[in-house]
Parts: sequence; structure tokens; C-alpha cells
Amino acid sequence: MIGVPLQIGDITLASNMMLAPMAGYCDLAWRITCRRYGGVGLACTDLLSPHGLLRGTQQSLDLARTDDEDQPVGMQLYGSDPAIMAEGAIWAADHGATIVDINMGCPVDKVVKKDGGSKLMCDLPRAVEIAKAVRKALPDSIPLTAKMRLGWDDRAAADGCAARLAVELVDAGCAAITVHGRTTEMRFKGECRLDAIAEVVEAVRTHTGNRIPVIGNGDVTSAEDAIEMIRRTGCAGVMIGRGSLGRPWIFRDCWALQTTGQIPPQPEPNEIAEMIRSFFEMMIRYRNERYAMHKLRTRISWLIKPMNTRAVSCRPLRDAIIHVKDAGQVFGALDEFRAGGLRLVSTSTSSAAP
Ligand SMILES: Cc1cc2nc3c(=O)[nH]c(=O)nc-3n(C[C@H](O)[C@H](O)[C@H](O)COP(=O)(O)O)c2cc1C
Repeated sequence: MIGVPLQIGDITLASNMMLAPMAGYCDLAWRITCRRYGGVGLACTDLLSPHGLLRGTQQSLDLARTDDEDQPVGMQLYGSDPAIMAEGAIWAADHGATIVDINMGCPVDKVVKKDGGSKLMCDLPRAVEIAKAVRKALPDSIPLTAKMRLGWDDRAAADGCAARLAVELVDAGCAAITVHGRTTEMRFKGECRLDAIAEVVEAVRTHTGNRIPVIGNGDVTSAEDAIEMIRRTGCAGVMIGRGSLGRPWIFRDCWALQTTGQIPPQPEPNEIAEMIRSFFEMMIRYRNERYAMHKLRTRISWLIKPMNTRAVSCRPLRDAIIHVKDAGQVFGALDEFRAGGLRLVSTSTSSAAP
């Protein structure tokens, strides 16, 4: 499956790489930032409350916002009531979703206390009932997918919870399954279990032939990791979350390594500064200045990281962005950086250069 674009239902993606939903991180501005580098077959909204969508709360509408450049897009719903989830799916279909995804992996209290997210892995009949209701509500042209973990805990994982659920979800009409190789109890700790993802891949393949793709997810932070995930699990695609936060070009790299055997040159610091500017501008355009300032401050350390080399530290740019007061000053700091300022050049390294 290396270098083969994913097919989900009737939709052929441009690659087998996907941007993971990450609440608070994968807004429209970030999805477009990743897409502009290439290699993103599918990006997904953060988890959406069908109640919020149906009531039209501003927060839900902001999270569900998409546009023509943000295609194809998955909209991810969470909840435990089949009827409400079905209504939410219809809303998503009417508001630009290419694919609708059901969250069966979120470990956050607010979600599992209401029996949604990964709590659904403790109640497979309900999970399947939701998938059936959502599938029935959606037009045939919109594939349904589900994203899960290995199970609630080690016992459930050892008992093959994810493989069983995946097969039942396929029978209920899911056109692809994503598996994050951890249990709910692990949250984000411990190693992602590739062997357990492989078991889900095998179960779905045995059940359906190669008709339904399984997408592997967890701890992929480089193009080499993505290829290892595919080789070791047999998965048809790879989803990346945290590994993209400082390097939105990771999807391009993963796809290039699969299809050409080479990783393109990494972006220069000034190109990265340009990416930060356009990300920031989009956050202002799609939301507002306050939101953009807040999000940029929380993410600038990740974004700056690949700009540092052994000889040059871009920490002064990071410090400037954390301390400035308004958007104009952010643009000013980025301009100063592009003109050669706001960086520390290590004299010991430069004097050692030939
Ligand atoms: C801050 C954060 C928010 C997340 N939000 C969601 C979410 O809304 N829906 C979802 O299915 N998974 C969510 N996840 C899980 C990721 O999609 C992914 O499964 C997990 O981070 C493992 O992949 P990674 O190692 O590539 O990050 C979130 C993860 C993080 C770190």
C-alpha cells in the first residue's frame, strides 16, 4: 500500500496521508496551511457536537467552518445518541462534509461521561447502532468512517475489541476505519502498538478483502515513520496529528518518500516565517484577531523549532511573538525576521566555518 492513494467509498484521495482531528488545533486555517504544502489526502475537523451544530452555537459553527480550498474534508461527530448523531450527520452533509466520521476514541472526561468518544468501545452494540443510524441518514455519496482506539484498557485490547468493532462497523456501512494504536487508559502515554493496529487491518481484510481501508495512527513524526507504519501494520493509509504541528509539510514529505523515494528539501527559515504569516492571517480572516493572537502564542514554539539550526537560533522571533500586543506587531516581527533580524547567530559555529 506504499504510494497508493486511498479510496474511501467512491472518493479517491490524492494520497494515503491524512491530517488527524485535534481539538483546538486543526481549525480551517491549519488544515489549509497543511494542504498548501501538498500530500494531504484528507483533513478532518476537530470533534463536533451534533447538539451544537443543530442549535447553531457560534463555537460549533466556527469549528465546522470549511471552504473550497479545504477539500476533501471529513467532519467528525461525537455523541452517544443515534438519532442526534444522524441529525448531526445530515447537518454536516448539508454544510460541506465530503466524509462524516464518528469519534470512538476520545478519552476526555467531558466526552466519555456522556457515553461518547472512546466510551463507545465499551458498548459495541451502541457504537454499531450509531453507525447504522448515521449511515442511513447520509446520502449515498458521502462515506461514513469511524476513528477508534484499541479498546478501553489492556484487557479489552488483548480481547480484540478494536478488531471486533471494526468488522461490525464495516457491516454497519463504514467505508474506512482509523485506529490509534493506544487504549483509552494509555491516553497519549506509552508506545503506539503497531502490532495491535496490524490485527485490526488483518481482521478487516479477512472480512472484506481489500475493499475497506484501515488507517493507522499514532506517533508518526517523520516520513520514515509513516512508511514503517504501513510496512509493519499493512494499513492502507496513515493519519498524523501531533507530528504535523511544527511541520505542516510532513504530509508532502511522507507522500514524496513513498512515491519518489526522496524527501524534498526542508523549507528555509524565511519560507517558514511566510507560512506563519499566512496561517496567522487566515486565523484572523476566519475567526478574529484575538483568537489568532492566542493560538499563535500557544503554537509559536512548535512553529519556530524547525527554523533553528546549529548556527542560528530563532528564539528572539518566538519571544517577540509571545510578547507583542496586536496583529500589526506580529506582522512587524515577521517582517523584521525576514529582513535578517530577530535571530541569534552563534559566533563559535560561524567562525569555525571555512
Ligand atoms: C490536543 C489533541 C486533541 C485531539 N482531538 C481529537 C479529536 O477531536 N478527535 C479525534 O478523533 N482525535 C483527537 N485527538 C487524537 C488524534 O487525532 C490522534 O489520534 C492522536 O494524537 C495520535 O496521533 P499522533 O501521535 O499522530 O498525534 C487529539 C489529540 C490531541 C493531542
